[in-house]
Amino acid sequence: MVYRVAVLPGDGIGPEVTAQARKVMNKAALITQNELLWQEFPFGAEYYLAHNVVLPPGALNDIGAYDALLLGAVGDPKVPPGPLEQELLLALRFHFDQYLNLRPALSFPNVPLPCPIPPDRTINIAVVRENTEDYYMGLGGLTENPADSFNLSAPRKLYSFKATLNTCVSPETKAAFSLGLLSEPGIRRITQKALTLTKARGEKSLTVATKANALPQYYGFWDKITRSEAEKCPDIRVNLMNVDNLCYQLPRDPLAFGVILCPNLFGDIVSDLVSALAGGLGLAASGNIGDSLSMFEPVHGSAPDIAGTGKANPLAAILSGAMLLEHLKLNEAARLITKAVAEYLAGGLYLPLELGGPADTDRVGTAVADLITEPKRS
Ligand code: NAD
Ligand code: IPM
Ligand code: MN
Repeated sequence: MVYRVAVLPGDGIGPEVTAQARKVMNKAALITQNELLWQEFPFGAEYYLAHNVVLPPGALNDIGAYDALLLGAVGDPKVPPGPLEQELLLALRFHFDQYLNLRPALSFPNVPLPCPIPPDRTINIAVVRENTEDYYMGLGGLTENPADSFNLSAPRKLYSFKATLNTCVSPETKAAFSLGLLSEPGIRRITQKALTLTKARGEKSLTVATKANALPQYYGFWDKITRSEAEKCPDIRVNLMNVDNLCYQLPRDPLAFGVILCPNLFGDIVSDLVSALAGGLGLAASGNIGDSLSMFEPVHGSAPDIAGTGKANPLAAILSGAMLLEHLKLNEAARLITKAVAEYLAGGLYLPLELGGPADTDRVGTAVADLITEPKRS
């Protein structure tokens, strides 16, 4: 079968790691009698600086015509934080209603861990991050006058939210605000995904991390809806935790955790933490999954500090590529990639520079691609 895959390499190390992911994905597709037809999109910092627009009109619809999207990373020191992240990355997540951000953290052989675990055990955590709501809605502003009025609006697939906010700050001072939003259907659908994943992994407990003690009207609502959704799965115990406590417990005993469900902002933070526990951002893959176009990308960003040095570990992008193939139901191709990554790391030779070895970005990608071979037939 032929699949049409869009790729948005983006900024910094994005193009370096997506090139390796494509190399490995092409090999896995070929060996399983499939073909990937790639269409590259140029959006990112250079495009923005050249055209003064993050995305041209129609770009999201054009990208939506593909079977899936592979993204490198966006963000560049030449552009102040904000436009690229909000108008490109978050715009893709929101436009395609990619409400499930699945971020697995798996430890592999020979990968040094900050909190060592017994040699016969593996860290196998999956962060299920709600990906369309919370403080990411983009509903904010700055009060600059004694009385200001803000028209806030957020169109979503599930609903359209509009509000007018009249502010009065006295004594007069500048003050920034941002509105978070958690909707009942938004919480229910992501809770269902987390419960289904917990069941599929054969586990009996789901961790949910919020902060209902500090924001009871807000995260307390999340907890209430999650609890009521979980009543439909009486065989799964829901372990509601404050996110600060979770960040304390995780490094002490990472083996105690399986699926962790979080609202958007905490999910972002917790996924970097669990990636560190499992060996580093260079191994952390993710999928932004919805009912239309889904997008796969490493958890890491554009890492401008190492861009162009060959130090970028492409395994996160390669494993994101495996998630993309699995999403397209190319399960054998996806399995071959994950197996090749595990074999490459278990070999212990030529480990990536990030893990203290000698292999630069290209060499890691080539080594993994070379390990993808015809499955043995008996
Ligand atoms: P980052 O993830 O880019 O980097 C954090 C640290 O991890 C850096 O020291 C970096 O060198 C290291 N690192 C990251 N990926 C690595 C890899 N594959 N191999 C080896 N080391 C790796 O986070 P940051 O520095 O906070 O952000 C840099 C830029 O990326 C910012 O503009 C930010 O907005 C953007 N960003 C984008 C995404 C995305 O596109 N999904 C995600 C996170 C950050
Ligand atoms: C991520 C990133 C983004 C996020 C930023 C760049 C907006 O940190 O994909 O993890 O917060 O979701
Ligand atoms: Mn992040």
